[in-house]
Amino acid sequence: MLISLATRLAALSPRFRKLLWRRWYQYLAGYRMADWQFMNYGYASLDPGEKPLALESGEEPDRHAIELYQRVAGAVELEGREVLEVGCGRGGGSSFIARYHRPRRMTGVDFSAKAIRFCREHHRLEALSFVHGDAEALPFGDASFDAAVNVESSHCYASMPAFLLEARRVLRPGGYLLLADLRSSAERERLRREITQAGLAILEEEDITSNVLAALREDSERRLALIERSVNRRLVGTFKEFAAIAGSRVFEEFSDGRLSYLRYTLRKPQSAGVAA
Ligand SMILES: C[S@@+](CC[C@H](N)C(=O)[O-])C[C@H]1O[C@@H](n2cnc3c(N)ncnc32)[C@H](O)[C@@H]1O
Repeated sequence: MLISLATRLAALSPRFRKLLWRRWYQYLAGYRMADWQFMNYGYASLDPGEKPLALESGEEPDRHAIELYQRVAGAVELEGREVLEVGCGRGGGSSFIARYHRPRRMTGVDFSAKAIRFCREHHRLEALSFVHGDAEALPFGDASFDAAVNVESSHCYASMPAFLLEARRVLRPGGYLLLADLRSSAERERLRREITQAGLAILEEEDITSNVLAALREDSERRLALIERSVNRRLVGTFKEFAAIAGSRVFEEFSDGRLSYLRYTLRKPQSAGVAA
């Protein structure tokens, strides 16, 4: 998100880009609206026969963001497991997983300290907690979790290999990394290579760009109204890009294939050195 600015700065330095992302997300966490709990592009099923997820009351406006979490986290059984979300943002996804998938313990981590404060104030569930920390240096011991979820966050990292190694480290043998994010067509192959080099097995790889585009199309009007109502007039253009409103550069790049939205189910090997 905030792709146009970030893409130009990425060329300068991944560390600088990461710093900018942190500042941006710290700034966004200053928006205290309690009902703004998700910051992803969303997912819409293209199968007319598919039964929509039954949501709790009041959650309908966030349907697409929640459906993205369902698509990613629903890939494996999480009930009774210890689950980590890296890049939890405003906490809606961690809360959804805690309530709908019933892990024994759900922990959300984010590098925006303000976002973590927001999460702690707005998502109070017994099995759910939030920790301030960096995806590239996770504040947890080795083999602490059965699964890690990562939704639309990894494009902000200075080093994807560093994150993948950290995710592998904190997972127990046989644990899952459930990942979804956008990549340019040039970056797609690199991501595959980075995953394999980190010693994670690819169990599922899915291009969900058309589902994400459908969600963005359906949600653009609502998002635009929200932006125009809530943000400073000078920042409306930036927020339209950030939210990938229909007609924005990100939306166009998804439409013409320059950007893809990918989903992976990855697994740490059961025994050291074997990615299977
Ligand atoms: C686009 S938002 C997605 C948030 C959430 N996953 C969702 O779908 O609503 C990206 C999130 O990743 C977080 N993030 C980016 N880089 C990070 C890093 N190095 N470590 C931890 N969190 C990071 C940001 O602070 C932000 O909350």
